[in-house]
Amino acid sequence: MAGTFTLGIVKPDAVEGGKTGKIVAHLEAAGFHLRAARLVRLTVAQAGAFYEVHRERPFYAGLVEFMTSGACLPMALERDDAVLHLRSVIGATDPAEAAPGTVRKLFAESKGRNAIHASDSPENATREIGFFFSEGELAGLRD
Ligand code: RTP
Ligand code: MG
Repeated sequence: MAGTFTLGIVKPDAVEGGKTGKIVAHLEAAGFHLRAARLVRLTVAQAGAFYEVHRERPFYAGLVEFMTSGACLPMALERDDAVLHLRSVIGATDPAEAAPGTVRKLFAESKGRNAIHASDSPENATREIGFFFSEGELAGLRD
């Protein structure tokens, strides 16, 4: 079956906490294939642009500060219904409300420091993958 793509990001709390490998293993065990990944330290401008949709929200400044506080790992992930499946696998935004066995229940500290990002629609997945990876970085990995 032809796969679809989504963007995941292992966030700074999880990278700094040494949980990157466990989270990638969890995603692979859930049927995702890693198609591109790069450890990056976002600038304030990059994090602000990435979370542009939240600019007017009260948590925006804290979110940008957190996402620029250390390295993170954006990943292009492939499987069938990738966007829906990754949202399901990561769990609710607040780990206290996340279902057992989800990435956020297992690895997140709090609603603000919640271990992982996942695109919330196919349109945003395309935008977000393009934010971090060029066509060339993905093209060689397609059939
Ligand atoms: P994400 O975009 O990172 O995958 O998270 P999400 O869809 O589950 O949640 P979203 O509503 O898009 O919020 C983006 C990120 O902002 C932080 N946040 N903090 N303190 C708060 O009330 C609050 N609300 C959201 C979280 O880090 C969330 O992942
Ligand atoms: Mg979101």
